[in-house]
Amino acid sequence: MYKIIDGKVISASVKERVKCEVEKLKQNGISVGLAVIIVGEDPASKVYVANKKKACEALGIISEEYALPENTTMQELLALIDTLNKKPTVNGILCQLPLPKHLDEQMVINAISPEKDVDAFHPANVGKIMQGDFDFVPCTPAGIMEMLDYEGIDIAGKTCVVIGRSNIVGKPMGMLLLHKNGTVTICHSKTQNLKEVCASADILVAAVGRPNFVTADMVKENAVVIDVGINRVDGKLVGDVNFDAVKDKCSAITPVPGGVGPMTIAMLMQNTVTAAKKQNKVI
Ligand code: GUN
Repeated sequence: MYKIIDGKVISASVKERVKCEVEKLKQNGISVGLAVIIVGEDPASKVYVANKKKACEALGIISEEYALPENTTMQELLALIDTLNKKPTVNGILCQLPLPKHLDEQMVINAISPEKDVDAFHPANVGKIMQGDFDFVPCTPAGIMEMLDYEGIDIAGKTCVVIGRSNIVGKPMGMLLLHKNGTVTICHSKTQNLKEVCASADILVAAVGRPNFVTADMVKENAVVIDVGINRVDGKLVGDVNFDAVKDKCSAITPVPGGVGPMTIAMLMQNTVTAAKKQNKVI
């Protein structure tokens, strides 16, 4: 019998925790603010940004949205980031990715003050994650660690396989599992014997961006399977894991939707409160 790891329930408990922290800070005269920048008209990005704003409102975090036109220049975007870096009421800054092609994403990430980098994408924060001494963790891997912890899933000594090597998910995910003493393999498009490697995993994290990529022959009996994929197929959301084919082999599995997705925003809220606390020297 497999257990469904319910991201809606777990994210609600994280948000409740964050809400209490925001209230406590408010009682001490400290407000918490997040600035979200979106450039252009990408429909998926617009939905993500709207959801981030809604979450802020529900938790008492002040959100500022900066919706810039598609033809925004690097100079204009960097000028806005500079203003927000200096603005005391803004504790966190997030620039929604992907950016339009003419903008240099890495340069934008580098411009955000590391103290306000609630995505943990700045090289200073990436370096801290490598060293295992960090304030912010990218929201999706942070959410997955929270789910594993909530479910009492022990990582130490386990074979952990991550499919996907992105800077946002795959690489930091591998590091976090390693810090918890997992034995970690990160797979990618050039990996040989991918099926066998995946089938050796006690904990399998799929962050490939291909619908139904993980099939039953890639899953070990009693594995924990975490599905990061959000793929739209015929108007329906589908994960990277073929849920129905795989579920009976798992001890626990995350659904899509309602798995990792809701965790990402909850962890962004958590990172924003951490930023506010650090900036106000509360921690
Ligand atoms: N685009 C997709 N995921 C993310 C994320 O976690 N942060 C930002 N800034 N953009 C994204």
